[in-house]
Amino acid sequence: MTDTHSSSNPASPLRFGEPHLLGIEGLKAPQINQLLDLADDYVEQSRSTSKKSDVLQGKTVINLFFENSTRTRTSFEAAAKRLGADVINMTVASSSIKKGETLIDTAMTLNAMHPDALVVRHSDSGAVKLLSEKVNCPVLNAGDGSHEHPTQALLDALTIRRRRGALQNLRVAICGDIAHSRVARSNIHLLSIMGATVRLIAPPTLLPSKIDRMGVQTFTRMEEGLQDCDIVMMLRLQLERMQGSFVPSVREYFHFYGLDATKLAAARPDALVMHPGPMNRGVEIDSELADDIDRSLIRRQVEMGVAVRMACLHLLCAEWDARREEGSLDLELV
Ligand code: NCD
Repeated sequence: MTDTHSSSNPASPLRFGEPHLLGIEGLKAPQINQLLDLADDYVEQSRSTSKKSDVLQGKTVINLFFENSTRTRTSFEAAAKRLGADVINMTVASSSIKKGETLIDTAMTLNAMHPDALVVRHSDSGAVKLLSEKVNCPVLNAGDGSHEHPTQALLDALTIRRRRGALQNLRVAICGDIAHSRVARSNIHLLSIMGATVRLIAPPTLLPSKIDRMGVQTFTRMEEGLQDCDIVMMLRLQLERMQGSFVPSVREYFHFYGLDATKLAAARPDALVMHPGPMNRGVEIDSELADDIDRSLIRRQVEMGVAVRMACLHLLCAEWDARREEGSLDLELV
């Protein structure tokens, strides 16, 4: 860890400038670089024999998941624990919740326990922002509906940056179920802010008609869209979010949109393959390709996830500590 990253240095307190991490939209390139630079340090810490530091010692992080998740919740839990925080995991089955009032009630109940950070996943777009307005601690969006999943885009960016040196001028294809994907939305924002070119490849039924307003190029044929791409990000077919029939069959989907070595040949010879997980092997990606350590960054993405979440928790808690110190927090919700 370098001095500039130390929260105990009163001469230069870490300032992120935002009270919450609700999405990538609206962030500036220097803020993204600040998160990625700090995450780089945390990769080293996570690889060392002593993984734990005391950056968040004495603090309590609550993971509040209204939607099932194993990997994201575990990743946030590992991140908070490696920073020395106490972690409470709360999983609330979405189906048992009446929206609106109950969500706010949950937020206010948890707020009364004085958490220092809340990590929230919810099946409704916008629910995490609503909750953030009712608590006096930083809120980190761990995925809200089909809106945003900011830490996923940040971990993807860290994975690419460490392999390719920079994000600028890379051509990145995001392929598959764009319509239901918060991962796609957060990545489109992040890659555009950082100067990469984004292409979306999907069947017409899974490509929202107004998505090109986000400044991306769209394609419906893999062979065409993958031409000269540096990075190929595959998305999971989110069958649980589909009402009605978006794809004729998973077999046919793999035939046209599943990534295998033959389709990948259209991309640059050194193109790298990514997937946020969980993967449907043989549906959106060929199993062998997913495990190919020369081409696939999928396991690396999981490693980067913990480091990125450590950086996010650290920066947001430091921001609140600094605001508390300067008396610029006027929230008095409890
Ligand atoms: C992603 C999600 O939940 O949006 N997964 C994850 O964070 N582990 C992508 C997905 O579910 O396909």
